[in-house]
Amino acid sequence: MEEFQLPKLPYDYAELEPHFDEETMRTHHQKHHQAYTDKFNAALKDHPLLFQKTAEEIITNINEIPEEIRTAVKNNGGGFINHNFFWESLSPEQQEIPEELKKLLEETFGSIDEFKEKFSEAALTQFGSGWAWLVLNNGNLEIVKTSNQDSPLTEGKIPLLNIDVWEHSYYLKYKNRRPDYIKAFWNVVNWEKVSKRFLENK
Ligand SMILES: [Fe+2]
Repeated sequence: MEEFQLPKLPYDYAELEPHFDEETMRTHHQKHHQAYTDKFNAALKDHPLLFQKTAEEIITNINEIPEEIRTAVKNNGGGFINHNFFWESLSPEQQEIPEELKKLLEETFGSIDEFKEKFSEAALTQFGSGWAWLVLNNGNLEIVKTSNQDSPLTEGKIPLLNIDVWEHSYYLKYKNRRPDYIKAFWNVVNWEKVSKRFLENK
């Protein structure tokens, strides 16, 4: 039985400074993400066959998970994959948006600025804890929000980019100023990765 493991970050904790601070990154990864990982494994331990699936497969088909562990798996498995996805969506290097994705973003939302505005608005207006996402839905780009650790995968949508708007992702540095954190996020988006996801799934 191979348990799910907390992945290493593809950059150092301090590398996203000054946008995302080292202490937040360290706590977010080592404490919050680790806790989701541990609780996900704990929820699955009496159902060892589930360890043969990927975490994404489990969350995509959450309604097939035994009822007695479904909520724990949804919350903690969701927390596990949403954070994996978030870390990989970030980069210390400022990146341009690759051409094909850029073109579709412009066609869909009017301009890159309008896309960023709409995505930021979704992140800002997600009430309480949750996430905002750019997804592919039947080949169309869409901005969606999810509560808690829910994933668009459960709704059959393909995630391309996400932002964590749980307070634990910004409170140490930005206190209650979620808008400042969202603004900072645009400096650390790994557009190469977002584009790769798009090209693989378009
Ligand atoms: Fe988080």
